[in-house]
Amino acid sequence: MKKLCKYGTHRVIEPVGILPQAALIIDSTPVCYDNECLIEVDTLNIDSASFHQIKEACNQDVELMKEMILSIVKKQGKMQNPVTKSGGMLIGTVKETGKDFSGKDLKPGVKLATLVSLSLTPLHIEEIISINITNEQVKIKGQAILFDSGIYAVIPNDLDEKFVLAALDVAGAPAQVRKLAKLNDTVFIIGANGKSGMLCALEAKNQVGPKGRVIGLVRKQEQVEALESLHLFDTIIVESATNSIEVYEALSKVTNGELADLTINVVNTENTEMTSILCTKELGIVYFFSMATSFTKAALGAEGIGKDITMIIGNGYTKNHANITLEILRGNKQLFELFMSRYA
Ligand SMILES: NC(=O)c1ccc[n+]([C@@H]2O[C@H](COP(=O)([O-])OP(=O)(O)OC[C@H]3O[C@@H](n4cnc5c(N)ncnc54)[C@H](OP(=O)(O)O)[C@@H]3O)[C@@H](O)[C@H]2O)c1
Repeated sequence: MKKLCKYGTHRVIEPVGILPQAALIIDSTPVCYDNECLIEVDTLNIDSASFHQIKEACNQDVELMKEMILSIVKKQGKMQNPVTKSGGMLIGTVKETGKDFSGKDLKPGVKLATLVSLSLTPLHIEEIISINITNEQVKIKGQAILFDSGIYAVIPNDLDEKFVLAALDVAGAPAQVRKLAKLNDTVFIIGANGKSGMLCALEAKNQVGPKGRVIGLVRKQEQVEALESLHLFDTIIVESATNSIEVYEALSKVTNGELADLTINVVNTENTEMTSILCTKELGIVYFFSMATSFTKAALGAEGIGKDITMIIGNGYTKNHANITLEILRGNKQLFELFMSRYA
C-alpha cells in the first residue's frame, strides 16, 4: 500500500505522481483506508456540461446513457466525462470513516453531499437504478470515497436532498457573484434559465442595488415569461450564446453601448467564450463558470480582439459557498419553489 495522502494520491493508478482530478485511472476499491470516508451512494448529480454531452452522444436513449456512464466509471474509477473532463457531485450516507479522517461529524448513517467533483472521487457502481433526464440526477447502488481534504455538507434535516444536491452542485457560482458584483454594476448572465443562472441573478440583484442592472440571456422565447415572473432580471435577451455578434449588438442596445461590468457564463455548451468577452466592457470581468469553456479560445480570443479584461476560471469552491447558496434560496420563496418543482 502506498503512503496515505490527504489529497488521495495513494489511489492514483495512472499517471503516478499527479493528483486524482488530473489522473486517468484511480483505484475505486470500496474499502475505507485510515484517512478516508466510505460513502454508500444514493444519487449522482452529473455536471450539466457532461450530462448534456452524454445525452447527445446517446441520442437521449437512457439505456445507452447507463451503459456509457458504467463504462466510464469502470475504466477510470471515477465519473469524469472524457470529453468535457467534468464530473458533478453525489449524495449518500456515511458507511465508515478511517481513524485518521478529519471530519469527525461524519458518523455512520449521516446523510451528506460531497462538495468535491466526481472527476476526482473514487466511485464503484454496482448498478444504475434510474436516470432522470430532466434534473440530470442518476440513482445508483454503489460506493464512493471522500479523501481527507474533501469538503462536504451534511444534508439539512428540513430540506429535500435532491433539491440540496442540485443547488450545491453549482454553489460556487452564486457565492463568487457575492464577491464579484459591485454596487451599481451591470451584470450580464449568459445561460440565465439554468440552475446557476437563476442563483447568480438573485445574488447579483442583491449586490448591485436599485441603480445596477441584471441582464439575462436565454435562447428560447418560451423561457422568458416564467423567468420574468421571478423578477430576477431587469432585462432578458433571447438569442443563442453561440451567436456572438448578435448577442453583443443586443446587449449594446439595451445598455446604450456601455456593455457589462461583470459577465457570468453559466451555459452548458461550447463556443460561447467570445460572446462573454465581447459583451464585457474594457477592464471588466468575465467569470467563466461553464465547464464547456476553453481556456485557449478565451485567452487567444480576447487577445485577438484586443480586449483588456479580467477572466476568472470558475473555481467551484469559495469559502462558505454551500451555506451561502442555501441561504440565497431560503431567502426567495419563488425561486425556492421553482427549484423544488424542477429538481426535488
Ligand atoms: N466551475 C464549476 O465548478 C462548476 C460546477 C458545476 C457546474 N458547472 C458548470 O456550470 C454550467 C451551468 O451549470 P448548471 O447546472 O447551472 O446548468 P443548467 O441548469 O443545465 O443550465 C445551463 C443553461 O445554459 C443554457 N444554454 C446552453 N446553451 C446555450 C446557448 N447556446 N445560448 C443560451 N443559453 C444556452 C441552457 O439553456 P436551455 O434551458 O435552453 O437548454 C440552460 O438554461 C455548466 O457548464 C456546468 O457544467 C461548473
